[in-house]
Amino acid sequence: MNDGSLRKFYGWFTFLGLLVGVLVVVGYYRDEHRPWKDYQRKFIQEEIRRASTPEQKMLAQRTPVEIRQVLLPELNRVDRCTTCHLAVEDPSYGGFAQPLAYNPLHDRHPFDKFGCTICHRGQGRATTTEDAHGHVAHWDEPMLPQKYIQAACGQCHEASDNPAAPELARGNQLFETVGCRGCHKLGGVGGNLGPELDKVGARRSPDWLKQHFVEPSAVTPNSGMPPQKFAEPDLDAIVLFMLSQTGTNLPGFYASMKVIPSASEGRRLFQLKGCIGCHTVAGQGGKIGPVLDDVGLRRKPEWMMAHFRDPQSVTPGSVMPRFGFTEAESRALTEFLVHLRDQQVALNIPALMAPADRGREIFRKYGCAGCHGPEGKGGIPNPNAKTAQQVPGLSFVADSYTKPELKKMISNGRREIDALDPKRPAPPLYMPAWGSTIKDAELDDLVAYLFSLKPKGEELGF
Ligand code: HEC
Ligand code: HEC
Ligand code: HEC
Ligand code: HEC
Ligand code: HEC
Ligand code: HEC
Repeated sequence: MNDGSLRKFYGWFTFLGLLVGVLVVVGYYRDEHRPWKDYQRKFIQEEIRRASTPEQKMLAQRTPVEIRQVLLPELNRVDRCTTCHLAVEDPSYGGFAQPLAYNPLHDRHPFDKFGCTICHRGQGRATTTEDAHGHVAHWDEPMLPQKYIQAACGQCHEASDNPAAPELARGNQLFETVGCRGCHKLGGVGGNLGPELDKVGARRSPDWLKQHFVEPSAVTPNSGMPPQKFAEPDLDAIVLFMLSQTGTNLPGFYASMKVIPSASEGRRLFQLKGCIGCHTVAGQGGKIGPVLDDVGLRRKPEWMMAHFRDPQSVTPGSVMPRFGFTEAESRALTEFLVHLRDQQVALNIPALMAPADRGREIFRKYGCAGCHGPEGKGGIPNPNAKTAQQVPGLSFVADSYTKPELKKMISNGRREIDALDPKRPAPPLYMPAWGSTIKDAELDDLVAYLFSLKPKGEELGF
């Protein structure tokens, strides 16, 4: 090869050399201006501006621009969200624009133990906004929309009773009253017509769930689930409750606050532990211990806590047992007793309730309303069923069954539902057999309840 033939490439060499140079500069520039670095510089500038002594200023100036992360081996995650959300824990950043804002709801859950994604979901390791928030194709745990964030609380706390998560409690209450358990198992309790719901929150998106409640057959063709007529806020609450069912089982410390001490938890314990055997409340109960209605006026919370720890330590010779309550349980009972007067408690103590009232609870517990409507009033569609294409209401069962017959009917169920038109598909809803699920004594109460549904006026109709 001679000089002449090489020379004609000189132009190309120069061009390629320049191109590499430009790419290096662009690469460097882009790396320096990754959004997270810009957020950190903004944060450092703010810290420098706020510094009031030369030492503080120096400290702020030396803050490195670097990836920040929380290692959470017990939760099996690494969260880098604080790489951008640098001040979520600092109240003086309240009101700043995201990602540099503080939020007061974080105080109870120290980040070094909880990180972020256990509540918010999203992709902990990512360092761009889109990826971290998880709205990307390869990531199946996108960040929970803020309006559903209380779904997260149900992983560690009892859903029914978290005073800081009212939406979750509302969703849970709807689930238990509307009758979902008639067809679905949750935590092992419920019917078999629909799928188990223990992990549904990990499987389905908020949008899917919402659409499914409004019109099940729009997302699951030929669905056997009747459309649920919820008002918008209730719809959000039930979607939120479904999202909270992720099937996660968190270890030790994280599960330690299953029940948050609250007055209603205290009431539950009060009933469970049989305090009423020795104490009178609202005119009901035993006489061995003092009447408790006004105890909140007589005793300070600290006294009650000490008394629960060891009654004898504050009332020597007391015959009240040491129950061995945890700190949280004592707090809950104290909370309940302090507010006893303003609560107008009607204690639901099963032994003191009428059979029909206990039966109403059983009707609720097994989700009979899911097919028979609230209070057995009917109205749930069952296409092509001879009974007016609906699941029958139960207001008049007392006219067609004796009590033993009714018990037998509920125990055995009825699989074959008479069709209006034998040529069309069979009615999707049938009467499950409850014999193996509902205890005999509960069945008696249930039957008493169903008999009580007959409108009173009817008896005068002769
Ligand atoms: C690259 C920087 C960056 C990272 C990393 C990042 N975020 Fe953000 N985040 C932002 C920005 C910017 C906003 C405000 C604009 C927006 O919502 O996109 C924001 C907003 C939010 C909001 C408020 C959303 C709303 O709807 O009001 C939450 C909650 C949030 N981030 C949580 C997280 C969590 C959890 C992580 C970690 C998995 C995370 N972020 C990681 C930059 C980031
Ligand atoms: C215990 C659950 C929990 C953990 C852990 C948690 N958050 Fe939050 N976060 C919440 C709740 C609840 C809200 C409040 C939503 C509201 O105001 O309605 C919230 C709000 C926010 C907001 C503000 C949204 C806004 O628009 O005001 C941001 C940003 C945020 N969190 C980021 C984070 C980051 C980053 C971490 C980890 C360092 C984190 N969170 C850890 C539950 C949690
Ligand atoms: C990963 C498990 C976990 C999640 C998710 C979680 N918490 Fe907690 N929470 C705890 C633990 C554990 C404690 C006790 C913390 C401690 O003692 O340091 C606690 C404490 C609390 C307390 C204080 C209880 C008291 O009286 O001492 C409240 C209130 C609370 N959580 C509400 C919430 C809410 C609301 C959410 C959802 C936004 C939530 N938690 C999500 C585990 C969790
Ligand atoms: C009459 C019986 C019946 C009642 C009552 C009922 N469902 Fe269903 N549900 C089904 C059947 C059957 C399916 C399966 C077909 C489908 O996906 O629509 C289903 C599906 C679902 C799914 C989707 C599960 C998955 O993994 O795809 C959810 C979520 C659900 N139901 C929640 C509820 C809730 C919450 C209630 C109470 C408000 C309820 N259902 C009441 C019968 C019922
Ligand atoms: C999955 C839906 C479903 C659930 C849940 C359900 N039922 Fe039924 N039930 C039916 C259907 C459908 C019939 C109608 C049977 C027929 O037409 O032969 C029926 C019939 C009955 C009847 C007879 C009514 C009559 O007029 O002959 C009684 C009583 C009854 N159910 C009680 C209950 C009780 C109590 C529960 C709760 C423990 C319950 N059902 C839960 C679907 C259901
Ligand atoms: C075996 C009977 C017995 C049982 C069961 C019992 N107590 Fe007591 N309780 C007493 C007696 C006796 C006293 C009075 C002596 C004392 O102060 O310990 C008392 C005192 C109290 C006091 C202080 C009342 C006051 O005015 O000074 C409170 C509060 C209390 N009990 C709450 C409870 C709660 C809550 C339970 C259930 C978890 C319970 N007790 C179960 C017998 C009982």
